[in-house]
Amino acid sequence: MLRLPDSGEEEGVEKKIAIAIDGPVGSGKSTIAKLVARELGYTYIDTGAMYRGIALKAKRMRISWEDAQRMASLAGSTEIVLLPATKEELTSRVLLDGEEVSCEIRETDIGEGASKSSTISGVRKALVKLQKGMAVSGGVVMEGRDIGTVVLPGAELKIFLTGSIEERAKRRFLELQKKGKKPEMREVIEEVRERDLRDSTRADSPLKKAEDAVEVDTTHMTIAQVVDTIVEMARELVRSKIQKQT
Ligand code: DC
Repeated sequence: MLRLPDSGEEEGVEKKIAIAIDGPVGSGKSTIAKLVARELGYTYIDTGAMYRGIALKAKRMRISWEDAQRMASLAGSTEIVLLPATKEELTSRVLLDGEEVSCEIRETDIGEGASKSSTISGVRKALVKLQKGMAVSGGVVMEGRDIGTVVLPGAELKIFLTGSIEERAKRRFLELQKKGKKPEMREVIEEVRERDLRDSTRADSPLKKAEDAVEVDTTHMTIAQVVDTIVEMARELVRSKIQKQT
């Protein structure tokens, strides 16, 4: 569930498109999607946070992340609300059955639980339905693993972010250090490798580039360069959309 801003369909108001951003762990998806959304005045939707919310609830209820039946029923009966980001607070807040869990869902084990439980079709079905509903009015930047391929196959702009495993692990390492943790680089590389493998080889909606997505390799790019590239593509699309209509 998400409160959406105006889609901008009235005359004189800038047309708004849907932007899908997919990519593996550490590719910069979240940071970039948030900044692109702020730059364009769009709503940022973090679908990974929804999988993380379900994984957290399962952990609390001592349900195995691999128990397909119980996890699917949990996903179907849980209320997940993403409170839109603001100009000051770029990250959207996450409410799980009414309780704010924005920090708790960022723990490493919950990321692993989200990756494991996201291989269950029943879990995906419940969350994809919610995600499609969130984007009906356009004006969204939605990030995840299957946005361009499954959730928003009709998105006007699809971006597939990549990056070398070393660079992505380095980003993850620095992120953990910033949180006061003392990670081991070797372990972080292994964790990233495992997540890549699980996310891209699962049977249902694996992480893959949509045929019509633009691939952006972020290994040697700054965040600002990636954001500018995507914002420019989006503005160009909006301009051509307006031209076609006049
Ligand atoms: O983007 P993230 O690290 O917060 O996502 C956590 C896990 O959730 C990720 O390993 C795979 C899963 N996920 C997914 O399967 N599909 C999505 N659209 C988003 C996340």
